[in-house]
Amino acid sequence: MDWKVRYIDYPVHYQKIRDEVLGTIDKTLAQGDVMLRQQLRDFEANLARFVGTRYAVGVSNCTDAMHLSLRAAGIGAGDEVITVSHTMVATAAAIHHAGATPVLVDIGEDHNMDVGCIEAAITPRTKAIMPVHLNGRVCDMGRLMSVAERHGLLVIEDAAQALGATFDGTRAGAFGLAGCFSFYPAKLLGAFGDGGAVVTNSEEMAEKVSLLRNHGRLPDGDVFGWSFNCRLDNLHAAILDVKLRQLPGWIKRRREIAGMYYEGLHDVPSLLLPLPPLDEGPYFDVFQNYEIEAERRDALVAHLTEQGVETMISWGGRGVHQFPALGLTHHRLPRTERMFERVLMIPMHPDLSDEQVEYVVETLRGFY
Ligand SMILES: Cc1ncc(COP(=O)(O)O)c(C=O)c1O
Repeated sequence: MDWKVRYIDYPVHYQKIRDEVLGTIDKTLAQGDVMLRQQLRDFEANLARFVGTRYAVGVSNCTDAMHLSLRAAGIGAGDEVITVSHTMVATAAAIHHAGATPVLVDIGEDHNMDVGCIEAAITPRTKAIMPVHLNGRVCDMGRLMSVAERHGLLVIEDAAQALGATFDGTRAGAFGLAGCFSFYPAKLLGAFGDGGAVVTNSEEMAEKVSLLRNHGRLPDGDVFGWSFNCRLDNLHAAILDVKLRQLPGWIKRRREIAGMYYEGLHDVPSLLLPLPPLDEGPYFDVFQNYEIEAERRDALVAHLTEQGVETMISWGGRGVHQFPALGLTHHRLPRTERMFERVLMIPMHPDLSDEQVEYVVETLRGFY
C-alpha cells in the first residue's frame, strides 16, 4: 500500500532522533551497562520528576506495571477491581493475573470512565479502581478520587496513554497509589520495543515493585517472595531518557495537530470529535490518539484507505467484555458498545506535517 499519511511513521521518527539515539546506544554499550545500571536510575529519576511523583520504577511494559502494582498493593484472589471495557485487554489481564476479578463500568462522552457509574459497581469485595486515561486525556480524577476516598478504595491508574496529561494541574499517574505507563513504540514516549514504568509517592510501593520486577532478590542475597522478571532493559532506559527530553515539544505538536483537526472537521455533522486542546480549564490533553466517532464508519475507513490515509479501529472494534474467551460478557455497557460501532482513530503523531493533516481533513470532508 502506498500510504500518503501513515498512522504512525516510525522511519521518519527515527531519522529525526537517529544521531542522539545511536550516540547513547554506543556510549551505554561501550561501558558495558546492560542491566539495572545508572542509566536506568537516571531515567527513573527524570520520569518521576516529569510526572511529579517521588519514585518511578522501570519495568518491562505497562501490563507488568499494572500487574506488579496490584500485587504490591496486596490485591489478589477474591478481590474486585473496577475498570472500563474501553481499554486494551491488558488492563483487565493485569487484574486477572493478580488473581482478582475485573468489574467493568461504562464510559462517558469523552470515552473515559464515567465516574457516575462507579458507585453502583462497588461490592463488599471491591478493593480498587483502575481508571484508564485514554487517548491522552485524564479521567475526571477530582470526582473519582472522592468516590475512592468515600469507599476506602485504592486507585491504581492505567496511564499508558497519558504521559504528560494533567487534570487540575496534577499529571496522570500522580493521583493514586500508583500510576502505570507504557513505552510501547506507538506511545507518547515510545521505546524501540517494550517498556513500562510504575510511578508512586509511596516508598513501600516503589520498593515492592522494584523487588517484584527482579525475582524478589534482596541486596543481602535473600529472596523476599515469589516474584517475576519484569525489568526494563538498561539500554532502553538510556534511549527513553534521551527521548523524554523531547517529550514536551512532541506534546505541543500533538496539540497543534488536534487543534487543526478540530478546526477542519468540527462542522461535519456525521463526526463526533474529541474536545479541542484548551489552554484553560482542568484538562490538559496530550492526544496520544485522535479517536473520533463517525457515521458509516466502515465505509469511511475504506475511503480513507483508498486515498492513502492509514487509520485504526480501537482494540479491533471490541471492548474487553466483547471477547467471549475472557468470561466478562455478562457486562451491559450500552455507551461503550455503541461507541465501538462508530469509533476509529486517524493519524496522530508529532511527525505529521501540516500538509498531511490538511490532506486527512480534506479526505474526510470529501467522504461526507
Ligand atoms: C490503555 C492501555 N493500557 C495498557 C496497555 C498495555 O501496555 P503494554 O503494551 O506496555 O503492556 C496499553 C498499550 O497499548 C494501553 O493502551
